[in-house]
Amino acid sequence: MEISSILQGGYQHPLSRSWQGQRTLTKNMFMYPIFITDEPDARVEISSLPGQCRWGVNRLQEFLAPLVEKGLRSVILFGVPLHCHKDERGGPADDPNGPVIASIKLLRTLFPDMYIACDVCLCEYSSHGHCGLFASDGSLDQGPSAARIAEVALAYARAGAHCVAPSDMMDGRIKAIKRALIDGGFGNRCTLMSYSAKFASSLYGPFREAAGSAPSFGDRKCYQLPPTAKGLARRAITRDVNEGADIIMVKPAMPYLDIIQDAKELARDHPLACYQVSGEYAMIVAGARAGVYDLKTMAFETVESFVRAGCTLILTYFTPDFLDWLEQ
Ligand code: PBG
Ligand code: ZN
Repeated sequence: MEISSILQGGYQHPLSRSWQGQRTLTKNMFMYPIFITDEPDARVEISSLPGQCRWGVNRLQEFLAPLVEKGLRSVILFGVPLHCHKDERGGPADDPNGPVIASIKLLRTLFPDMYIACDVCLCEYSSHGHCGLFASDGSLDQGPSAARIAEVALAYARAGAHCVAPSDMMDGRIKAIKRALIDGGFGNRCTLMSYSAKFASSLYGPFREAAGSAPSFGDRKCYQLPPTAKGLARRAITRDVNEGADIIMVKPAMPYLDIIQDAKELARDHPLACYQVSGEYAMIVAGARAGVYDLKTMAFETVESFVRAGCTLILTYFTPDFLDWLEQ
């Protein structure tokens, strides 16, 4: 036997196995996506996302206090407007009385140490269900889309969000948001996390049901990236770094580990995030229920793959479970 053939002596003990990772998974690495409706007392289970609910503002304390007790450090808010008037420009997105802005203010007072991120997009609030605005010829209107997204992001920053995270994939929105934050006096008070490499995936179905954000016509292929597009993803990451993003995100996560690794190389001076999206979560839960694997073991295997590929921030619906499973 050649000396170089023998590796197992190096990881025969649980402790020596723990040294094989380059980073250790900790509770700090988790950001919990939560859905907030404009029915203040709501607690409605989302059938496509087992264990997840749509919450009303009045229920946030009972929902989140036990998780904060277990070590929850951050959330990302998604508004689910059920009773507002959706218009062409996504007017309700920055309604000062809407569920997102009300929740930011409430969470800041209820949980002063919690890091509050807000997803920024128009699809939940627009009559057409698309993430940007259209010109009269039916094509995406780049300038006005970026300007409107920036307006919404600034409203969330003003309400007290620590981080704004545009998921719309309109060209130029990172630059527009960063400019708006700086001009609005929030340049040094609000993080800009870009969903830089967001692919047109079949894994968003449960989310669209949860958030009521399915497009009323067409699809999102003219703004979300084709799943084959490694080069475009690399260009989008570099562009967003140059436009002023503070954190780069890849989404979905597990089918795009190579993109995560590319992002780590291209944006090596930025924190890197990934979003384990609704369909990934639903798929993992469904596989466990079908007896394919043990849920906890599989959930760990997925998030450890994200950390291995280069992420230090993971957005996942498994966050409450990891607060139970992890010690620190
Ligand atoms: C909206 C948005 C989506 C997700 C996050 N923000 C859906 C979409 O682009 O259709 C997906 C999140 C998930 O599936 O968990 N722009
Ligand atoms: Zn959207």
